[in-house]
Amino acid sequence: MKYILAANWKSHPSSKDEAKRLLVGLSKNSDKFRKLHTIIAPPNTFLELVGSKIKSMGILASQDISLLSKGTYTGETTVEMLKGQGVMASIIGHSERRKLGETNSLISKKANQALKEGIAPIVCVGEDVHDTEGNYFEVLNAQIRGSLEGLKKTDAKKLVVAYEPLWAIGKSAKDAMQPNDLAQMIVYIRKVLTEMFGRASADQVAIIYGGSVEPGNAKELLGSGAQGFLVGHASLSAKSFVEIAKAMLNK
Ligand code: 13P
Repeated sequence: MKYILAANWKSHPSSKDEAKRLLVGLSKNSDKFRKLHTIIAPPNTFLELVGSKIKSMGILASQDISLLSKGTYTGETTVEMLKGQGVMASIIGHSERRKLGETNSLISKKANQALKEGIAPIVCVGEDVHDTEGNYFEVLNAQIRGSLEGLKKTDAKKLVVAYEPLWAIGKSAKDAMQPNDLAQMIVYIRKVLTEMFGRASADQVAIIYGGSVEPGNAKELLGSGAQGFLVGHASLSAKSFVEIAKAMLNK
């Protein structure tokens, strides 16, 4: 099985030159990225640039998709436009977009739209707090069911669920989720998916982890049963991202 290594650049870098430098650093290690399912999700302004360099490494993704098709919608980037840039996957329902008001219901519409358009949805779920009472299981259950509503069994093989607990995002490796805890969460997510889609289809869904994945914890975290990572800050340094890829390949 090839692991998934997805980069979420969020609203970085601030200039095209920086983006070019990052891509040069990544391109030098394209052999490693090719051994994984490497995905890069830059901000829309750099889709064309990343799209022109990514073919030797992996595939291009967007950080969101719109439900609107071409028309008078100021500020929207349509799916058609994304596909025109070569986008083949899309992060959907990231916690940073949920904070801006995206609901499970909207996220499920986007996931369905992506599948209809032939774009692989990387649907993000994750609790705010990992409380001692275990309330996060219920939170996650509701998010998974709500965000994947309307998806069919046959969609499972194209679906990626990114488990990203909010409390672990944007920290350092030592504050990330511990592998044992992650293993438990992956089992739980798989259980919910099984209830929704049946065992055979649920097993086809790729479950990846995001939240302070760095070179120092990538190998350990992969031992938890995660099928890959969605990497934020460490994907903005070619050195770190390459080190994560190496750790995954040496697992
Ligand atoms: P960090 O890797 O910076 O914690 O971000 C994770 C994330 O939000 C990826 O989508």
